Amino acid sequence: MKKRFLVLLSVMAALTIVLAGCGNKKDTSVQKVQDKKTLVVGTSADYAPFEFPIMQNGKKQIVGFDILLAKQIGKELGVKVKIVNTDYPDLLPELKNNKVDLVIAGMTPTAQRRKSIAFSKPYYYTSNTLLVRKADANKFNTIADLKGKSVGAQQSSTQETIAKKQLKNSNVVTESLVTGMTTELQNGKLDGVVVEKAISDNYVRKYPEKYAIAKVKLTTPKQASQICVAGRKGDKALMKKTNKVITHLDKTGKLDKMFDQAETIQVKYNK
Ligand code: ARG
Repeated sequence: MKKRFLVLLSVMAALTIVLAGCGNKKDTSVQKVQDKKTLVVGTSADYAPFEFPIMQNGKKQIVGFDILLAKQIGKELGVKVKIVNTDYPDLLPELKNNKVDLVIAGMTPTAQRRKSIAFSKPYYYTSNTLLVRKADANKFNTIADLKGKSVGAQQSSTQETIAKKQLKNSNVVTESLVTGMTTELQNGKLDGVVVEKAISDNYVRKYPEKYAIAKVKLTTPKQASQICVAGRKGDKALMKKTNKVITHLDKTGKLDKMFDQAETIQVKYNK
């Protein structure tokens, strides 16, 4: 009798373990990252102060606000961070194909993206602007002033949508790198580039003799003002950790400090 009871007890215990395991089985996202001791983060380093390359001791390094955030998430998970630099349009495919664990690239959670991707809570808010040559600082005051002009916007970005919708009479050109377009702006190939305010501010601060923000007002739909971390829909535990880090950094005022820190690095290094 006693033996039977013991058998029953161990069967029940085993069942409990199996059932508990089932609950977790769906989401091993944090475990996986901890097992490989590395959080792999995809970014597109053409976006100072969010992510940009610098040369340090003869070696190219990707740094910036998003990288500082990635490091904080890595710290929370107890792992190191590996940054994978990819052109912006390829970031979400890489995430979906499990090439990276998270995408931290100044990314906006659009309704379209939300269909297949999960987003963290916002860690930054921004609007959209038109970056122009300094010489043209007062040339483009209304959307009508941009008629027939070539305006760049990053391919697959919210800026592409904004430019195509709002600048109907301009020639909207999309390219994969923001840095390529800002060079073309200087070459005269483009007359303006639609970029988020944090980015245009950064260009103007770093190169006041070259760039200016046009007076023309672009509308930024509410959702398009948010910047969030992107993850896979199934990786709920990893997103929960990410949100925990963001909440903590926000509450303690560290997020703002990290942004300033990234801008300081950007101004300091010639890239
Ligand atoms: N926030 C915009 C978007 O989600 C642009 C982000 C561009 N990021 C970059 N690293 N180039 O589409």
